[in-house]
Amino acid sequence: MTRKPLIAGNWKMHNTTAEARELVVGVMQGVKEFEKSELPDIVVAPVFTSIPAVSEEIFEKCGCGKVALAAQNCYFEPKGAFTGEISIDMIKEFKAEYIIIGHSERRQYFGETDEMINSKAKAILAAGIIPIICCGETLEQREAGVTDAHIASQIVKALEGITPADVAKSVIAYEPIWAIGTGKTCDSVEANRVIAEIRKVVAQVAGRENADKIRILYGGSVKPSTIKEQMAQSDIDGALVGGASLKADDFVEIIKGAM
Ligand code: 13P
Repeated sequence: MTRKPLIAGNWKMHNTTAEARELVVGVMQGVKEFEKSELPDIVVAPVFTSIPAVSEEIFEKCGCGKVALAAQNCYFEPKGAFTGEISIDMIKEFKAEYIIIGHSERRQYFGETDEMINSKAKAILAAGIIPIICCGETLEQREAGVTDAHIASQIVKALEGITPADVAKSVIAYEPIWAIGTGKTCDSVEANRVIAEIRKVVAQVAGRENADKIRILYGGSVKPSTIKEQMAQSDIDGALVGGASLKADDFVEIIKGAM
């Protein structure tokens, strides 16, 4: 089974619009020499306010189609009295192809529940967009030996009621919380072990064939120096990159490491 590698940059709450333009242009220039077919799928997720500008750089100015656009979040209702929220159609207007959901920072600081993440996943897939569904354990959970059970529960709840075909199209990102922004990358063999466990859970809910198709990324202090070893693992299909995606050169090195 060959799954196309995917390298996604989650810019989190960084960059003004002007900085976001500069960054995406830097990434596109860095990959210009390569054919789309040799590159991994490349995704960037700016803040909402920079989405129109980044979309313009990707689709109107460059037109290279090598970098895809993602949002970092969305709301699952199509419209209405939900002050401060953004709907999927509003994101789709700018040709976004992916939406990140269930990031640990949203779960931890903004009270997102598994039920909300499931509602978002269903609405995103119904709109023809690909959800990047995040999961991951805290250090306390890891030390208590409940990592696998916790992640299985997150995944089962996120995928509830989603058709097997839609599950296969989705992306999962395993991001151990203790590895995010700490510089402490999870050991590649261990990350691969957890990701293989996630694939088993997906097989239980959507069948083996779909579990073989779904792409599962690793995230947490991914750097140019770690990506090759991570990509050499059997079940790691790419990376969700935070800090190192904010510098075009580093992000391009990571993309090259996945080729
Ligand atoms: P870092 O790469 O900065 O650890 O962030 C990972 C992450 O949370 C990506 O979503």
